[in-house]
Amino acid sequence: MRVDRFLSNLPRYNRQQVRLLLVEKRVRVDGKIVSDPHTEVLEFSQVEVDDEVLQSGKAARYFMLHKPPGCVSATRDPQHMTVLDLFDDPDKDDLHIAGRLDFNTTGLMLITNDGAWSRRLTQPQTKLPKVYYVETEQDIGADYALQFAEGIYFAFEDLTTQPAQLELLGPRSARLSIVEGRYHQVKRMFGFFNNKVLRLHRESMGELALDNALKPGEYRALRTEEIHLF
Ligand code: URA
Repeated sequence: MRVDRFLSNLPRYNRQQVRLLLVEKRVRVDGKIVSDPHTEVLEFSQVEVDDEVLQSGKAARYFMLHKPPGCVSATRDPQHMTVLDLFDDPDKDDLHIAGRLDFNTTGLMLITNDGAWSRRLTQPQTKLPKVYYVETEQDIGADYALQFAEGIYFAFEDLTTQPAQLELLGPRSARLSIVEGRYHQVKRMFGFFNNKVLRLHRESMGELALDNALKPGEYRALRTEEIHLF
């Protein structure tokens, strides 16, 4: 957001006062005096007027978690363990999930306090491929791959799913790549064939694969180059 808009959104300043603050060089963003009203203020920028901190510059944080089965993709839940309960971190209240998984789905989950980053990753326009390992109750037919590539009609949302790639691994196991994240999407795609998904595990999101060294329930900070994949 532009610094002039950031300041005039605060109840204490009107636009005229903001213009003056900038002209009088009383505004600092990340320690530097700014007078250009177009200067960008990011979620993690520190903004000061005179010596008062109006937004404190906190660090952006990014993690990958190996989600275990039996926990909910929520920050709080009155009944069940949540993925954030797995974090041993005093500032975990800041964190949120970039791309949910169902209660018993396992695998790669990204957790951050950077809203712009998680929005980029999850917004439908990004079409980020997500790869799942799937095991089913019945044999997976030869006709599934073509149907998934053509799309499956979801009556509830009145839409047809984007082309998805299915690779058969065994009679009842496969790898599926989808670019959306509709509610229970994989289960509903197999549900089209009345075939129940018994195991679902997310292996990767875009270029980022789950780190093999992480056991279910473990997490680690993302490396700089991993953060920049999105
Ligand atoms: N599709 C599902 O059905 N469940 C998940 O957890 C993820 C994708």
